[in-house]
Amino acid sequence: MNKHTVISTDTMKDARLRNRRRQYRAIMLVAMLGTLALGGGALAAEPVGPDLTEKLRGLLVREMVAIESAMLDIYSAIVQGNHTTVAQQGQAIHDSFILKLSLTKEDRQDLKAAVPQEFLQLDARFHKLAALLAKAGEEESTQEQVEIFNRMTESCIACHSRYVTDRFEGLQNQLLPE
Ligand code: HEC
Repeated sequence: MNKHTVISTDTMKDARLRNRRRQYRAIMLVAMLGTLALGGGALAAEPVGPDLTEKLRGLLVREMVAIESAMLDIYSAIVQGNHTTVAQQGQAIHDSFILKLSLTKEDRQDLKAAVPQEFLQLDARFHKLAALLAKAGEEESTQEQVEIFNRMTESCIACHSRYVTDRFEGLQNQLLPE
């Protein structure tokens, strides 16, 4: 065997390995839909709900109920390859940014006074993921959708386990995603 053939069989082996690794990654991602891979760690902070004005709390709860319902629709759509629904519902979550869009100047000041900066950052990051999900829907990439859906679920838990421990006791003392 000369040097050239050695290289080309190696390249073929590499390609096959890469393929297998890609398949493995896809399978792992699907498995992660059900089992959250929570790593890292951070301490729970004070619950934010009781510190919000009545109006803000009402808006937030409405947003949460809408988000949860959209997430369930998205789950069904992902596993059935309904890319259009994934794109639409992802966009709907992104646009449901009530905390940013439908607030008066005073509401916004109330909000900033009531919640730590990190809470707002978590919210912003979550809505950014929703936009990515909408894009993955448009691109008809199931693998990306699964990955982003998983990150969004981690994001719900990251926020709830830090800031909603008064209501979601079961999330107390959990290992939190960073
Ligand atoms: C940035 C923080 C944050 C993120 C991210 C977040 N939530 Fe929430 N969520 C809250 C807070 C705060 C409450 C509690 C509101 C209250 O009762 O004062 C809440 C409450 C809820 C509730 C209870 C609503 C009710 O009926 O009172 C549901 C359901 C919910 N969230 C679903 C979700 C889902 C699903 C996700 C992710 C896809 C998510 N949340 C992401 C902060 C967050």
